[in-house]
Amino acid sequence: MTRRLEAGRLVVASHNEGKVHELRVLLEPYGLELVSAKELDLPEPEETGTTFFFNAELKARSAADLSGLPAISDDSGICVEALGGEPGVYTANWAETDGGRDWMLAMSRVQERLEALGPGVSRAAYFACVLCVVWPDGHVESFEGRAEGSLVWPPRGERGFGYDPVFVPQGYDQTFGEMDPEEKHRISHRAAAFAKLKAALL
Ligand code: IMP
Repeated sequence: MTRRLEAGRLVVASHNEGKVHELRVLLEPYGLELVSAKELDLPEPEETGTTFFFNAELKARSAADLSGLPAISDDSGICVEALGGEPGVYTANWAETDGGRDWMLAMSRVQERLEALGPGVSRAAYFACVLCVVWPDGHVESFEGRAEGSLVWPPRGERGFGYDPVFVPQGYDQTFGEMDPEEKHRISHRAAAFAKLKAALL
């Protein structure tokens, strides 16, 4: 049976400031006091799964086990049609460098792979997001949302995070990086997953 999320402390199982901020905006109106895994000094588990669902559950379970509080996680990424869905669950890995994550490098890698396929290649892509809540007793609830769109080059806009500057959502001219954050929060993959979570748990 679905379990409702009661007001109180909720751990955000992420060290990614962009995601923590977006989840705070979405969840704080519901009387939830969000504390991030980074604030609690919780380790980041290795994401060993090959699906967004698996990795989301793994992160929330680790945070709930270690904190004794319910935890919410977000596993997300960008899936590019012409690249067979890559980078997908490996979206963050494409940004890894010895000096930390470099999003400009990650976006350039996607662009180079598309250019290698020749002119006229489809630039269709979607962002996917799985939000997962795990309670300390092991109960799990997961929800997936998507935002369809296409990739542009060069990157545009200073807002948002990650791949936002190269993604134009369907029906819009601006990238997520140029758009008013409130507009992004209304139409994003995270908003779509959150709408399902809200209907079920809040
Ligand atoms: P993970 O879920 O921690 O494996 O990381 C997924 C990566 O996908 C993030 O670090 C971002 O680079 C990218 N990503 C996920 N959601 C968004 C978004 O809303 N905008 C831009 N990039 C995103």
